[in-house]
Amino acid sequence: MTQPMSPVDTAKFAAAKRAAAFVENGMKVGLGTGSTAAWLVKCLAERKDREGLRFTGVPTSSSTASLATELGIPITTLDDAGWLDLTIDGADEYDSELNLIKGGGGALLQEKIVATASDRMIVIADATKKVETLGAFPLPVEVIGFGMNTTKRLLEEMLEGLDVMGNTGTFRRKGDELFITDEGNHIIDLKLGRIGNARQLSLILNQIPGVVENGLFIDICDVIITGHGDGKVEMRDINSGENETSRVGTAGDDNVFLNIAE
Ligand code: A5P
Repeated sequence: MTQPMSPVDTAKFAAAKRAAAFVENGMKVGLGTGSTAAWLVKCLAERKDREGLRFTGVPTSSSTASLATELGIPITTLDDAGWLDLTIDGADEYDSELNLIKGGGGALLQEKIVATASDRMIVIADATKKVETLGAFPLPVEVIGFGMNTTKRLLEEMLEGLDVMGNTGTFRRKGDELFITDEGNHIIDLKLGRIGNARQLSLILNQIPGVVENGLFIDICDVIITGHGDGKVEMRDINSGENETSRVGTAGDDNVFLNIAE
């Protein structure tokens, strides 16, 4: 028997389902990474199977590529696709200007490249991701292995002069080992507490030689779709100013929900 979904999974699913409706025949779509983006991939596979939706996905990580392939979604690389119509991805935090922290799943580099190469980026999130000011979630910074301890020291020293509450970095680990990204790099998670000027911080971080990219997404997200535990979905388009509230069917009134949850 299918287990009922938790409120947080319901929220993620609801946001993903609403976002999946933006994909049209023939589109080239960036597929994000993380638990919310995994719901999106499942919702898109469901539309492909039920409606014959034709689209090509560009995954932002090896894990998303595996899931999409498993579900029969045609995928290609960003270079083969050239430019994308749309990218849909999750986030770790978003603020009222739709600036984001991403990279909790370690895929920030490919995610930022793919989102930047898209006409539009839609972020899908549960309501816990909304913050007044970015920074409670540790900011992931992808660094190359060469000289990475020096890079960490430079990062911490640089942060002392900026409008942030903390300045310590920790190398991300996976079990006993250092975490390795899909590009063979490492991640330093910066405990900042509060980021006073995210735009400035993002620019400064990327000037440190060992830094490949940071998890601040500034002026990249166009639309935020926030899911709630009862299936309510709020959508905000920062360009048009349009707001929409809707509801995604839950178990009992929409058996798609149950099928996808299995
Ligand atoms: C992956 O690197 C991240 O940017 C994710 O998009 C982000 O961590 C959100 O993940 P969840 O949807 O699992 O919360």
